[in-house]
Amino acid sequence: METNNTEARKIILSGIQPSGKLTLGSYLGAIKNWVRLSDNYDCYFMMADMHAITVRQEPATLRKTVLEQIAEYIACGLDPDSCALFIQSQVPAHAELSWVLSCYTMFGELSRMTQFKDKSTKHTENINAGLFTYPALMAADILLYQADLVPVGDDQKQHVEICRDIAQRFNGVYGDTFKIPEPFIPKVGARIMSLQEPTMKMSKSDTTAGGCVYLLDSPDELMRAFKRAVTDSDTEIRYDPAEKPGVSNLMQIYSSVTDKSFPEIEAEFAGKGYGAFKSTVGEAVVETLRPIREKTEELFANKDYLAEIYRAGAQKAGYAANKTLRKVYKRVGFVQ
Ligand code: TRP
Repeated sequence: METNNTEARKIILSGIQPSGKLTLGSYLGAIKNWVRLSDNYDCYFMMADMHAITVRQEPATLRKTVLEQIAEYIACGLDPDSCALFIQSQVPAHAELSWVLSCYTMFGELSRMTQFKDKSTKHTENINAGLFTYPALMAADILLYQADLVPVGDDQKQHVEICRDIAQRFNGVYGDTFKIPEPFIPKVGARIMSLQEPTMKMSKSDTTAGGCVYLLDSPDELMRAFKRAVTDSDTEIRYDPAEKPGVSNLMQIYSSVTDKSFPEIEAEFAGKGYGAFKSTVGEAVVETLRPIREKTEELFANKDYLAEIYRAGAQKAGYAANKTLRKVYKRVGFVQ
């Protein structure tokens, strides 16, 4: 997937919901790949605050989380000079295109979205229209930038697929307007599981103590979580997600932070116990996260610098987004 500098670079867009602190799962599954991708693609990375309010948020917390995440992204290695790092609500074209696209999105297809079904069973007191039409907003996020690739976790693949359907439907009626994006699901690190329930994705909404670890956790907190990680009653360190989900998840994490392959890891721990294995993985994670935590704290303390970053990001994103939005408004017949 190398691109040549003389050709137009391919475009990538992705978003993360500022609905809680960033987890080790989001770093290894998403951000680390973004950093790599931003060398070869034109990248737009967005704090999806408009998606976040489909479930209730505490306003002060939402605001803080968005700023903290921007700091975390930069600390993780995203270079704000080479990609657009922006806040969704600061680029009005997202809300504007989302409305248009919702008129080309079917009730039936939205009803089939697994995430909607899950969230509406979890939040029975607040099954709002935004939660239902969320995929139309996400389609707008992607299509505004004429993105080629959308790096997402498995759980978002269905949303990228509906985005493709919406784009094809629109193009079918009005002629080529949107680039049809591809989901981009990296093979390694795409799915880090809970340390306590290793058959479930590591998620910030996970409430089991120690199931989820965060980028800003202290070394002590990290070590405690890894030492307590659930394994199995066997003794062998072998990659086998179906039979040994806990051990395989720890191997996945260790592989992501050290770049060692599974066979190398199996050899390294052959004949060693789970205790030593868990401590080694914990220590590797601590050392990976230490500079990220320190840099985040430094950036977060500098609000003026952060504001410069997201304002510049919104300006760059807005420029690209408005080009697409104007084309769409013209196509559907809005008076220019
Ligand atoms: N819905 C995504 C999530 O919950 C976040 C998101 C919003 C996103 N807009 C996007 C991801 C556009 C990729 C592209 O994780």
